[in-house]
Amino acid sequence: MTGTIRKAVLPVGGLGTRFLPATKAIPKEMLPVVDKPLIQYGVEEARQAGIEEIIFVTSRGKASIEDHFDHHFELMATLEARGKTAELELARGMLAGAGKISYTRQPEALGLGHAVWCARNLVGREPFAVILPDDLVLHPRGCLAQLVEAYEKVGGNLVAVEDVPREQTNRYGILDVVEDDGRLAKAKGLVEKPAPADAPSTLSIIGRYILQPEVFDELDRQDKGAGGEIQLTDAMARTIGSQPFHGLRFEGRRFDCGNKAGFLEANIAYALERDDLRESARDILRRYAATS
Ligand code: G1P
Repeated sequence: MTGTIRKAVLPVGGLGTRFLPATKAIPKEMLPVVDKPLIQYGVEEARQAGIEEIIFVTSRGKASIEDHFDHHFELMATLEARGKTAELELARGMLAGAGKISYTRQPEALGLGHAVWCARNLVGREPFAVILPDDLVLHPRGCLAQLVEAYEKVGGNLVAVEDVPREQTNRYGILDVVEDDGRLAKAKGLVEKPAPADAPSTLSIIGRYILQPEVFDELDRQDKGAGGEIQLTDAMARTIGSQPFHGLRFEGRRFDCGNKAGFLEANIAYALERDDLRESARDILRRYAATS
């Protein structure tokens, strides 16, 4: 037993330019998949994994995320007065206990590694999780809970991975694999967004990590990598040798909600999972399939 993971960092500082005009005045993370903002899926997945403290790394214009997880007296009082118990339960269920959510800002968009580094004082010197809310994983057992379970056996740094088509390696952090049992892959190196011809494998990192605090020491160097950004992948790569690094092939379907097609597919897939929407969603899909 290496110890449990109590804290999760959720970087939410991005401008969301791929979703303009929707994201001009609304954070990308507040866009709903069916009827729940993207960010809430990430927080619920963290809670399911036993996370006690959520740390958001935000930027200008993200205040609605703070409001979303806060007590809303007028709404609660109105729901109570109208006897809307189901909605009241829903609103209560998502509240974080006092002091269990922190917000810190990333003053400049210098990369994912920099965003995580901005949370170093809130994390302290203990292992922690990172959730990138753009990546949704649909499975009854959340992706982070699966990672925590695997972490308790292997320790070190651990990320969620999946195989991608080789032509897509330039979108991800890629593992240089040394051992692979089909579920856990041990890496001897990592490359951020390699060209398909240069990629050491097609095993790509998706947005769930369990990291040792030593990664902050690497991030302290503020070295720039792919795209001129401070990359989390590079900092993790430098810990290999002194700490084990594994990728876990998680169970579940992953949606990249950072692009429009992935976001649209997530909406369809999550609607099909819902008892109250499945039939209407199927009916809509059948109608469009027949006419397009
Ligand atoms: C980031 C990471 C990358 C990882 C990806 C997962 O890239 O830098 O290593 O594979 O998230 O979604 P981004 O999507 O921010 O470009």
